[in-house]
Amino acid sequence: MTYRIGYFVGSLSSTSINRRLAGALVALAPDDLEFTEIPIGDLPLYSPDHDGDYPPVARALKESIEASDGILFVSPEYNRSIPGALKNAIDWGSRPWGTNSFARKPTGIVGASIGAIGTAVMQSSMRSVLSFLNAPQLNAPEVYVQVQEDTFGDDGSVRDASLEEFLRHYMAEYCAFVQRVLSVTAPGHI
Ligand code: FNR
Repeated sequence: MTYRIGYFVGSLSSTSINRRLAGALVALAPDDLEFTEIPIGDLPLYSPDHDGDYPPVARALKESIEASDGILFVSPEYNRSIPGALKNAIDWGSRPWGTNSFARKPTGIVGASIGAIGTAVMQSSMRSVLSFLNAPQLNAPEVYVQVQEDTFGDDGSVRDASLEEFLRHYMAEYCAFVQRVLSVTAPGHI
């Protein structure tokens, strides 16, 4: 069985370490998972003024979320919280009222930072947001990656064997979690 996973990279940086982490996670994931990035960089700022007529880029965002069996967030922490670009995308996906695209989607949250707590505060904020959006979350394991100069190779590989094994383990757990949630929310799918 193949599960379609839409993933968000919460950084717009051209040299993003979280984009590297996302690439590593995709490479280490079980074959049952098929990944599509859900881009956030071209979204205008959300306003309820758009609710009557969502722009095409925001409709595409909602369609991508709704077409996904599970959602994975790979994001930096900005000022001890969720980067604005990612929060803006979540706000678009959650509206118009009554059409929250994240409802009942199994989600995972991971992040990389140059700082010692590895996006822990951003992830805590995300859990609160996703709870409000009625999106089940993989609670454990938690992935807080502190990136050093040599964490990733130029080809996107993970240089540290224990980190590589841990990320592989996380993706196996995430896959099992998606299966568990879908067995309840979409039993015909399994
Ligand atoms: C940061 N950074 C950061 N790191 C952290 O661990 N906690 C934080 O609160 C912040 N805050 C923060 C705010 C802003 C505006 C920037 C630009 C950066 C540092 C951050 O971990 C580092 O820049 C990472 O490289 C960001 O991830 P990407 O963009 O490389 O994926």
